[in-house]
Amino acid sequence: MAKPAAKKTASPAKAKAPRTRTAADLERHAPRKVTREELIDLLNDDLAKEFQALVQYVQHAAAMTGPQYDAIKAELVVHSNEEHAHAISLADQIDFLGGVPGVDVAQALISPDSKVMLEQDLEGELDAIARYRERIAQAEMLQEYGLRRALEDILIIEEEHARDLQDALSL
Ligand SMILES: [Fe+2]
Ligand SMILES: [Fe+2]
Repeated sequence: MAKPAAKKTASPAKAKAPRTRTAADLERHAPRKVTREELIDLLNDDLAKEFQALVQYVQHAAAMTGPQYDAIKAELVVHSNEEHAHAISLADQIDFLGGVPGVDVAQALISPDSKVMLEQDLEGELDAIARYRERIAQAEMLQEYGLRRALEDILIIEEEHARDLQDALSL
C-alpha cells in the first residue's frame, strides 16, 4: 500500500542538491602544517594524554563493578599496559626530534557509573585516533618517516581499543 504522507513529512534538506566540496573545504579538513618545534609540542600533548589514558584505565579497571564487566575489566588492564608502551614510544620520538619529553598528565576522568567509565574511555580513544591521524600526516609533511611509522603502530592499537570499548558498550 502506498504511503503518500511519508513524502510530505520528508525533510526539506533532503531535496537540496548535494553540495560539491570546495577548495576551502579541503583546506579546512587538511592536516595543519607545522614546524618541527610545533610538532614536538603537539607530541608532548599526545604524551600527556597517553599518561592520562594509562592512569584512567588503571582506575576504571579497579573501580568498575558488575559481573557483566568482568571481561572488559581485564581488557582495560591490557589497554593500560599498551598506553604505557605508547608513552615510551612517544617519549623516544620526542627525544629523537631534539625535544624534551614532558611529564605532564592530562586530567583523567572518573565516574561512579561503570557504563559512563566506558564512555569516557571511548571518548579518549576516538580523540586519540583523530590526533594520531593528523600527527601521521604532519610527520609525513616533515619527512619524518621513522616518526610516522611509530605513530602508525600506535594508531592501529588505538583503533583496537576503540573497537573493544564499542563492543563492551554494544554500540
Ligand atoms: Fe595510546
Ligand atoms: Fe588507547
